[in-house]
Amino acid sequence: MTHHSPDNELGFETRAIHAGQSPEPVTGAVTVPIFQTSTYAQEGLGRPYQGVYEYARTINPTRSALEACIASLEDGTYGLAFASGLATASNLMNLLSAGDHVIVGDDVYGGTYRLFTAVMQKFGLSFDFVDTSNIESLEQYVRPQTKMLWIETPTNPLLKLTDLEAAAAFAHRHNLISVVDNTFLTPWNQRPLSLGIDVVVHSATKYLGGHSDVVLGVMATRSREIYENQKFHQNAVGAVCGPFDAWLVMRGLKTLSVRMARHAENATALARLCTAHPAVEKVYYPGLSDHPQYALAQRQMRTPGGMVSLVLKGGLEAARACMESFKLFTLAESLGGVESLADHPAIMTHASIPADRRAELGITDGLIRLSIGIETYEDLRTDLLRGLEAAARAAELSPAI
Ligand SMILES: Cc1ncc(COP(=O)(O)O)c(C=O)c1O
Repeated sequence: MTHHSPDNELGFETRAIHAGQSPEPVTGAVTVPIFQTSTYAQEGLGRPYQGVYEYARTINPTRSALEACIASLEDGTYGLAFASGLATASNLMNLLSAGDHVIVGDDVYGGTYRLFTAVMQKFGLSFDFVDTSNIESLEQYVRPQTKMLWIETPTNPLLKLTDLEAAAAFAHRHNLISVVDNTFLTPWNQRPLSLGIDVVVHSATKYLGGHSDVVLGVMATRSREIYENQKFHQNAVGAVCGPFDAWLVMRGLKTLSVRMARHAENATALARLCTAHPAVEKVYYPGLSDHPQYALAQRQMRTPGGMVSLVLKGGLEAARACMESFKLFTLAESLGGVESLADHPAIMTHASIPADRRAELGITDGLIRLSIGIETYEDLRTDLLRGLEAAARAAELSPAI
């Protein structure tokens, strides 16, 4: 069943392991089986199995278990799973029609920016990319055609926050559907639906899956109307995930809470280490007391998460020296896996944002984004210091930058 009523009597960790996942009735298998089938035997002509199972794009029991689990973890009523985070975002665009306008955060994931500007715009949707960290300033962008508010908090890669209660109130006042991309924090850290947001979307490729072995997306909502629209389009558009991928994400979810706690513990210690290092110009991490929205972070998020961004003195050459001298931090796109990764947003994840726009946003050539994994802290510390020392040497060699 994709429907799941939030059962607040059970704790988060319990629901991460059990929600949507009763033992399988034929054998008692404790783990939800991977229903690797495209179709189901019908009970008679025009009679799908149990009145439900007809074709696996429409419904698959492994996918349904994941959908129920994510609905529960996000304190939602309904969940849906798709082929990727972007497939989920794309499905959500079906809540809109040609002529509609969307207010979007100004440093959302580059692929989201590309989906909206290079794909959705040609179907007659329009987008304003604005700083959602100041909700009052959003009033000026609301038009009669505005139908949706799309937020990432913390943002990627600059870790700016948006006050979700204020955002939800603003959206309700203007009758907008509010959407939060909760990829960076996961429901263990932040539950937007409980703060009045209409829809949560995730790249489950990241922390929810947690092991860098699957590409998948999910959404959750409490609104029956939104769910029915999205369920219809999940089937009509067809960007569903496969059952094995759904199973991998479900397996990841079982350890979400212990992983997220360790990610945050390692990230907090490493962010503090960086603030004191001479190679570093600036550290972005909502767990540092000099983060401009530290108070909001304390109120809205259980922990500051596992993502840390740094600006290195010496620009691109320092960033290159740092990243190429790492032995543990793997130079790779993506984030949220158990292993630590290093990304250079301007060249890698955010290259699809035009250079002048990147400069406006502060995505400079010296900026690196670290996805802090759950390896032994001392090993990460040694590796990061190795990188920072290499950056310092490179900055000395190119002082003019
Ligand atoms: C915050 C955020 N949202 C959405 C996506 C897109 O997800 P996917 O790569 O699963 O399509 C990403 C991917 O990097 C992301 O970081």
